[in-house]
Amino acid sequence: MTQFKGRTQICYGENAINSLETLTGRKAFIVTDPFMVKMGFVDRVISGLERANIASSVFDKVESDPSLETVQKGTVKLLADGADLVIALGGGSAMDAAKAMMYFAYKADTSRGKPQLVVIPTTSGTGSEVTAVTVVTDTQRQMKIPLIDDLLVPDMAVLDARFTRSVPPSVTATTGMDVLTHALEAFVSTPANAFTDLYAVHAIEYVFRYLLRCYRNGDDMEARQNMLLASCMAGMAFNNSGLGVAHSVAHTLGGLFHVPHGKANAVILPYVIRFNSFDVRDRYRTIAEKLGLPSETVEQGNESLITAVRWLNTQMGIPNRIRDLGIKEDAFQDSLELMSQHAMDDMCTKTNPRRPSQRDIRQLLRKAY
Ligand SMILES: NC(=O)c1ccc[n+]([C@@H]2O[C@H](COP(=O)([O-])OP(=O)(O)OC[C@H]3O[C@@H](n4cnc5c(N)ncnc54)[C@H](O)[C@@H]3O)[C@@H](O)[C@H]2O)c1
Ligand SMILES: [Zn+2]
Repeated sequence: MTQFKGRTQICYGENAINSLETLTGRKAFIVTDPFMVKMGFVDRVISGLERANIASSVFDKVESDPSLETVQKGTVKLLADGADLVIALGGGSAMDAAKAMMYFAYKADTSRGKPQLVVIPTTSGTGSEVTAVTVVTDTQRQMKIPLIDDLLVPDMAVLDARFTRSVPPSVTATTGMDVLTHALEAFVSTPANAFTDLYAVHAIEYVFRYLLRCYRNGDDMEARQNMLLASCMAGMAFNNSGLGVAHSVAHTLGGLFHVPHGKANAVILPYVIRFNSFDVRDRYRTIAEKLGLPSETVEQGNESLITAVRWLNTQMGIPNRIRDLGIKEDAFQDSLELMSQHAMDDMCTKTNPRRPSQRDIRQLLRKAY
């Protein structure tokens, strides 16, 4: 049996933020980062909630790659506040932190019922607004821990591009490459199906059409809106199909060397396409064809796709080698064993089209370095 799940109410387009006024609840717990407060974004959310007669409190301590400690602090506050609505406002970090807080608060006291979860992404990247995934960082073990549970799927996602307008070019670039990695990994993953393909292909086409426009002109709102849709569609795809080895490696590079998630994906993706191409080269060629890239033969299609991904990276100032991420060679060599072990253990490896050995991962990492 094959299935496709999607249960988040998606509100998008002009004035999408007004959908907050349709919410019901007593008290909202807003999870965000300090930048969102400074930008006045939190005030806009509070105003929307006030119009729906919903009181609110704010937890604005989320850092990039949220730690278990932050999630724990937020969970304690959420339980003390007794909110029945959790609102995430921010990039993947704020969304994931909010999802984890909601989850642990509910598990700690199920008698209060599961709080409604509403997410407002301010980056076009993770797709966390529709996924059953949250990624928290264990700072002591220097590991990113993904948690998957259908309870984590948000009830409502508000895609209002005005919240992404202030994203600086470097973050636009790396989060956009995260979208591309989600969609490409979903398209070739072992559980890919007709529905995940639809979302994945659409997301890939949008990234190639709109990401550079967003990068070059952050005020191009048509491009911003369509990247937000691409991010969400890629999320719909991988929430059903899983991801692949690019993400497994990105998780370990993030946990050990604090490389931003999208940047790690962007660097490693071309190497993973090459590694997988033996097994799914027809699939990659299909993508190359859809993008109008040279693809007369299967080999040419695969090469064109790799070249196109590298070209996108280069246009946006993203390096194409791990060594250019500021990771010293001795530190990299010392961590090779641990990184390849973490990548093997990562759940994303299970759905990669080619089953790697630990040796394969080490080789892939060495080549990428
Ligand atoms: N849950 C999932 O399905 C999923 C999928 C992929 C990645 N992730 C996780 O998401 C996290 C990464 O999320 P991200 O890439 O969105 O980055 P992020 O949330 O860490 O944000 C990156 C930076 O951009 C800033 N920022 C965010 N919105 C902004 C705006 N509108 N204007 C200006 N600056 C803004 C943030 O303050 C932060 O400094 C990682 O922890 C990653 O592991 C989760
Ligand atoms: Zn990702």
